[in-house]
Amino acid sequence: MKKIILGVLLASACAAAPAFAAGDAAAGKAKAGVCFACHGPDGISKTDTNPNLAGQKAAYLVAQLKAFRDGKRVNPMMTAPTKPLTDADIDNLAAFFSGLGK
Ligand code: HEC
Repeated sequence: MKKIILGVLLASACAAAPAFAAGDAAAGKAKAGVCFACHGPDGISKTDTNPNLAGQKAAYLVAQLKAFRDGKRVNPMMTAPTKPLTDADIDNLAAFFSGLGK
């Protein structure tokens, strides 16, 4: 019982962290199939014009994905894949790609 209460307290403390709530990398991987075609399953792109994502800072990835989704950063290749993403999906995708190659 004490462990459960401690777990709940820790979880809510993390959720309240002001800067960046870490995503769930496993959930991100499950959503990343569509990204692999262009960015590589290991986060290393095979195409010269597509950026690598492996090991990139998670907060930076979150900012770029939200910018594409919300039309603040415009690239036709990135508009469609980011349109359906929720903020939680984006946190999870960022956790997954930033954790690759480490
Ligand atoms: C059709 C190919 C394609 C698909 C699918 C795609 N991307 Fe991209 N992505 C690109 C290209 C091309 C760029 C570079 C855009 C630019 O020049 O602004 C890019 C840029 C990015 C960036 C910015 C990188 C940086 O260094 O600023 C992120 C983050 C990103 N993609 C993540 C994703 C994620 C996550 C998915 C899956 C949900 C995804 N992409 C799906 C082609 C794609």
